[in-house]
Amino acid sequence: MMKFQGSHILSVSQFDREAIAKILQVSAQMAPYASRQKRCNVLEGAILSNLFFEPSTRTRVSFGTAFNLLGGFVRETVGQENSSLSKGESLFDTAQVISGYSDVIAMRHPKMHSVGEFAQGSTVPVINGGDGANEHPTQALLDLFTIQSEMMHYNKGLDDLNIVLMGDLKHGRTVHSLSKLLSLYNNIKVTMVSPNALQMPDSVISTLSDAGHEVIITDKMAGNLQADVIYQTRIQQERFASKDEADLYRGHFSLNKSVYQQYCKDNTVIMHPLPRDSRPEANELDADLNELDNLAIFRQAQNGVLVRMALFALTLGVEDQLTQYEMPVNWYTNKNG
Ligand code: CP
Repeated sequence: MMKFQGSHILSVSQFDREAIAKILQVSAQMAPYASRQKRCNVLEGAILSNLFFEPSTRTRVSFGTAFNLLGGFVRETVGQENSSLSKGESLFDTAQVISGYSDVIAMRHPKMHSVGEFAQGSTVPVINGGDGANEHPTQALLDLFTIQSEMMHYNKGLDDLNIVLMGDLKHGRTVHSLSKLLSLYNNIKVTMVSPNALQMPDSVISTLSDAGHEVIITDKMAGNLQADVIYQTRIQQERFASKDEADLYRGHFSLNKSVYQQYCKDNTVIMHPLPRDSRPEANELDADLNELDNLAIFRQAQNGVLVRMALFALTLGVEDQLTQYEMPVNWYTNKNG
């Protein structure tokens, strides 16, 4: 079994099925705390440094929320312009200093492999919140947790999954990480729907095909959306040379209720890492899908809190102490109804 305590979480390649099962099991244990049925202050006194050098809503706030829910304190740095990285300080030096102030660090940075570079200078665990177009391991774990919980309604698990990945598969780090995780399961069919110029990197395709899985690559939605799960993604404008170049690809694969009813199975679960681009020229996931029970995107985002709580508990070695640190919730809450 992988040793979690004291370890960095930088890439999904670190995990085998046993390690993933452990993360998903501890994530499920966090549900009573996230839904305010109970409190748990097992990390009281611990400090998370949440370093976000690229825009984020879900990942940054859910890392902070997860740490707070376990009783810890959160210190945030948002934007390179608010950090001495903008004065030429190296990632190594920044890591040496910040790790002296903290017990664990979560970090997002626009450059590929930068979080790994930072981790080399850190004396405490570093969790990758997204490094350029490379990886987003905590997103992939919460995606897997979501697929597992959504498929449970249909008596399915993570094996024998038929999934469509759609949109900007070249730059979308979430689909890179998710594909690598899925390759660990049995008999997976992955249909990759994207413009030809935005296809999944060969290395990710090989990870799936070398593990014996069926991979279909196409630039057409018609006839290719009969799946258990459709995982839609945004055109990652921030990874293109210009907005004009990104505009070339926007709006090609908009999923809306009409497309869903025409091409998908009745119970196809719709996922998206979010943010979805709701501008009319993009609209990859139309708001007319909001009324569908199978639109899992907001449950998916909520699951991010559970998975990040689990990763903090595991890397800080307290996953077996949760129940000893439980307390009642004293305030009004509508979350546990
Ligand atoms: N899914 C995700 O990474 O969202 P944010 O960019 O808002 O963190």
